[in-house]
This record gives sequence, structure tokens and C-alpha cells, in this order.
Amino acid sequence: MWQQSLVEKYNISGPRYTSYPTALQFFPMQDNSLLEKEVKQLPLDQPISIYIHIPFCDVVCFYCACNKVVTKDKSKANKYLKLLFKEIDQWADLIGSRPVYQMHWGGGTPTFINAEQTTELNKKLRSSFNFVDHNAEISIELDPRKVDEPKIANLANNGFNRISIGVQDFNIDVQKAVNRIQSEQETRNVIKHCREHGFKSINIDLIYGLPKQTEESFKETVNAIIDIRPNRISVFNYAHLPHRFKPQRRINDHELPSAEVKLNILHQTIDQLVDAGYIYIGMDHFALPDDELTLAQINGTLKRNFQGYTTHGNTALVGLGVSAISQINQFYSQNHSDLETYYTTLESEQRPWWRGCQSNQDDKIRHRVIMQLISNFYCEFTDIENEFDIDFLSYFSAEMDKLIEFEVDGLIQIGKQRIQVQEPGRLFIRNVCMVFDAYLSQFGDIARFSKVI
Ligand SMILES: C[S@@+](CC[C@H](N)C(=O)[O-])C[C@H]1O[C@@H](n2cnc3c(N)ncnc32)[C@H](O)[C@@H]1O
Ligand code: SF4
Repeated sequence: MWQQSLVEKYNISGPRYTSYPTALQFFPMQDNSLLEKEVKQLPLDQPISIYIHIPFCDVVCFYCACNKVVTKDKSKANKYLKLLFKEIDQWADLIGSRPVYQMHWGGGTPTFINAEQTTELNKKLRSSFNFVDHNAEISIELDPRKVDEPKIANLANNGFNRISIGVQDFNIDVQKAVNRIQSEQETRNVIKHCREHGFKSINIDLIYGLPKQTEESFKETVNAIIDIRPNRISVFNYAHLPHRFKPQRRINDHELPSAEVKLNILHQTIDQLVDAGYIYIGMDHFALPDDELTLAQINGTLKRNFQGYTTHGNTALVGLGVSAISQINQFYSQNHSDLETYYTTLESEQRPWWRGCQSNQDDKIRHRVIMQLISNFYCEFTDIENEFDIDFLSYFSAEMDKLIEFEVDGLIQIGKQRIQVQEPGRLFIRNVCMVFDAYLSQFGDIARFSKVI
């Protein structure tokens, strides 16, 4: 998959396409009734996916780019939950009895709240929404430094069946440099308890490009992860943007690996994981061959949304909590990302919706093409033509011209009926999608995005 000359040519900055249009096209919401109407018009059997954002963390990891509030004051969770419950009531009114097939708690650190609060929040959700009993995917991000066996048992009792664990790197020097000391044994214990309590799927997050990382040190981390054998592994490229994320200013620039070392680490990691039997799903994600993501990709049914890759792509996504994003049809809406504003809007009985975007017909067509490419590595012209009543090749004639260079470089194959991404093109799927992004040229400022690999 790895070809050095292609890496040098195509490793530019670009969006991650968890949505199209991307968040750069989100503007302050002028009229909440438009989204409310859209939700009410959803069919009554519309599958729903819920995302809950719990922003608090006890200690800051210096690299962190997530929306979080660092505090040791556990009482802060009380006010948050009180107002989150209000937001749940607002959405429950709109969603009614539509079935919930998927729920994810993310953060921050969702395990910042204690076992009783976890149970209380879960009860509130289950009494407010219509959860399907069978096969629902209920997942949570765990911080192994903050959970013990009883807490894991409590999560299992509350119906959680998938976990995602942040590891980033097992090397102690790297951990010290990013202020996240988390021993390998601690992580292994947590995973052991999760398996004993019947969790079906375990995901581990790693980051390459952190300070003090070397090819040798990261190789050891990846070998340890392979030994643990999680179902899914995410290997993120460290996004170092100290002007945007204050804690990153505590990272010494001179300790960061060079661009060359970073690429070598990625290359080596892909080789290690593929040799160990993992499948490269695309966009930083690897999964075991029997994982649902892998199977969905083989069947061409994999989808992508704000939660990353998913097999539940036809769901309407309801995002609850500070900064959470909802996606209803092609309507995107993001909650206030500032905690105080999130609180005051809810206290004054308003919706905490901050900004969003309503897609036009062209956005919808491009969204469909980009999502097909990024999830399943192909785009079938007739699918788009039938759905939107267009002639693909005329509609996208300028884009097809641009794609010729990608074909010459061996990244894609353009057939009479489809664009097929080739093995070497998987690493550069963002570049292929960017050709279909109508907003990029207007912005020019693609440096606002992270590098494609
Ligand atoms: C939303 S965060 C929350 C994870 C959870 N609080 C934890 O620490 O385990 C999810 C993941 O984003 C990744 N991440 C955070 N900051 C990042 C950055 N600056 N660049 C790349 N990945 C980052 C980390 O891998 C992290 O596990
Ligand atoms: S990586 Fe996780 S625990 Fe660390 S600061 Fe970010 S959200 Fe909190």
C-alpha cells in the first residue's frame, strides 16, 4: 500500500469528512423551527443513534484536541447532568417513539461521572427514548486510569456492550511528555474485566507523532496492542495546533518527531497491523477480519458520520451535551461548545443549538459520492444517478477531469460505471474525496485541516 513518491505528492491537509458540508460551513442557527420540523417529519420507524458528550476530565493530556473541561471538582457533574436531562426532554418530545439502535457516550471522559450518576443518566435516557432491545450498539469511551472492576460491572449492567479506550502510547517517556501516565498493566486489566463482563467489542486509540516517539518505541507499543488484540484500532495522526489548543503549548516542539520519522512510524504501524491480520478500513482505522466494520466494507454497506465509521449509517443522529452534533437527514446542528452558554440557554428553556447547516441539492449529491468513496472505496455512478436523477459524468465532468491524474498515479481506476479506489489509493482517500468538495476551492485555507496521513 505504501509508495514513498505518492506519500510525498499527496500528503497535504484535508477534511476528515465526518460530514459534508464540513463544519467550516456551519453558521449560527437563525431559525430552530426548520430543524424541529425536519425531525417531526422523520418516518416513525426511522432508526435513531444517540451521542452523549460528557466533557469533564480530572487531568489534562497535553496533546488533547477534544472539547473538554479539566477539573478535579466532581460536583461539577451535578449541574451538567441536570441540564443534560433538560436537553434530553427537549429531544424526547421531538423523537417520540422512533427506535434507538445505537448510543455512544464520549468526551472528555464519560467515566468522570460516578456509578450512580451513570445509572441515573442511563435510566433517564431509556425512559425518554425507545431503545430496541436486540442488537443495540451501546458504547462508551473509557479512561483506564479512572475505572475499576465494579465500575465496569456497572457499565455492563447498564447495557453497555462496546468500549473505546485511549492508550495513545505505552512508552513512559512519551507518557511523561504528554502528561498521561497510564501503565500497560492498567490497560490490560481494564480490558480483561471488560471481556469478563461480556463486552462484545473493544477499540483502542493510538496517536503517532507525539513528543519523544521513535520508530522503535512506537513499534513496541503496537506490538503490545497486537498482543491485546482489540477488535478495532484507531491510529491518529497527532494534530499539533498549539494556537488553538492551549494544553499543547506545554509540549516541547523540539521533542516532536520530524515529519520523516512520523511517516516512517505510520508506514511501520500499517505493516505491523496488516501482518498481524488487521484490515485497513481507511482514515486511521483498522479492524479484525470478522469485525462488523470489515464485513460492512466488504458488502459495500459501511457508512461514515460524526461517530466515524459505522454500520448504522441510515440513522438520524441526535447529539446531546455541550458541543455535540446532530444530523437529521442532511441537516446538521451543533450545540454550544462553551459550557456556560450551553447552561444559560437550557436554563432559559431554549434549545442549546449554536450553529449548523442545511444542505442544498448539490450538497446532498456530493455528500453521497464522498461518503460512498470514503466508506467503501468505490462510487457507483448508477447509484447516484438513480437517487438524484442526474447524469453522473456530465454533472461531474470537471471532477472527472481532475481524477485522471489520480488514475495515472495508480490511486484509482475509472471504469464506465464506477470509480474504484485501488490499494495504494486507500491512504489518500481524503484527496480523492476533496475533488468532489465544492467548498474547498472557495476556502483555499486547507491548512485548517489536518494532514491526510
Ligand atoms: C474524544 S478523545 C476522548 C478519549 C478519552 N477521554 C481518553 O482519553 O481515553 C478520543 C481520542 O482522540 C484522540 N486525540 C485527542 N487529541 C488528539 C490530537 N491532538 N491529535 C490526534 N488525536 C487526538 C485520542 O486518541 C483520543 O483517545
Ligand atoms: S485525551 Fe481524553 S482524558 Fe485526556 S484530556 Fe483529552 S479528553 Fe481528557
